[in-house]
Amino acid sequence: MERLMEKLKEASAYVDAKINHEPVAIAMVLGSGLGDLANEVQQKTIIPYSEIPHFPVSTVQGHAGRLVIGMLSGKRVLVMQGRLHFYEGYSMDTVVFPIQMMRVLGIKELLLTNAAGCVNTAWVPGDLMIISDHIKLVADNPLRGPNPDELGERFFDMGSAYPAELRAVAHASGERLGIPLREGIYQLFTGPSFETPAEVRFARMCGADAVGMSTVPEAIAARHAGMRVLGISCMTNMAAGILDQPLDHLEVLETGERVKHTFGALVKDIVKHWPI
Ligand code: HPA
Repeated sequence: MERLMEKLKEASAYVDAKINHEPVAIAMVLGSGLGDLANEVQQKTIIPYSEIPHFPVSTVQGHAGRLVIGMLSGKRVLVMQGRLHFYEGYSMDTVVFPIQMMRVLGIKELLLTNAAGCVNTAWVPGDLMIISDHIKLVADNPLRGPNPDELGERFFDMGSAYPAELRAVAHASGERLGIPLREGIYQLFTGPSFETPAEVRFARMCGADAVGMSTVPEAIAARHAGMRVLGISCMTNMAAGILDQPLDHLEVLETGERVKHTFGALVKDIVKHWPI
């Protein structure tokens, strides 16, 4: 565990030096098809993951794999353009290394976004959902193993992982911009296979509104380290078995493309009004 803290500190020190030790207010992870927002960051410093000591490298198509740090809506942000997924072969603790590094860098606010399959049949592709809670029936946990005490406690509350205060900020932004927002529960599946229709029916029975392959490990690591999380899912497709058509990654990217302007406007307004 000492070794993990050493690695996190080395990675963080590298990033910190690159940005001249300017403090960052909010970190964000942009999901599939939603990464373009990073291009709107001003006065930016770009750091490819491959440059950062100990930092894992993203492999999935549609994910750039770099940190973009600079100004967005008057706040200093660090954008993870391209996230790491469990299905790429990384262990869950590797998936959350960047989140823990953000915390070591001093960041306490985290926006997690993702593309998700829509389980709620009253909703449609393109809908944006504020995450109120999550379900992880996947057996693994990113904090399994010796506890990094410097980051947080061994056992920690998850009831406050997605604080109501931040969800209210997101809803206020939605109202201000005339963007209708859903709110609901995100259930993690490992991928890379999409869920089966039976798994989607099961997720619905569990109370899930959306299914996806990310966000949950990051939210757990963030909560562990005392960060506040706001999660936004873009319903890129109806989940398996709802429509009489096969799922494919192209549909995910196409919907991301279709909503990226709305999504970008929403995120910028949220960042502007984010209570620090
Ligand atoms: N399932 C899981 N992850 C996803 C989906 C889906 O249907 N769409 C986008 N990400």
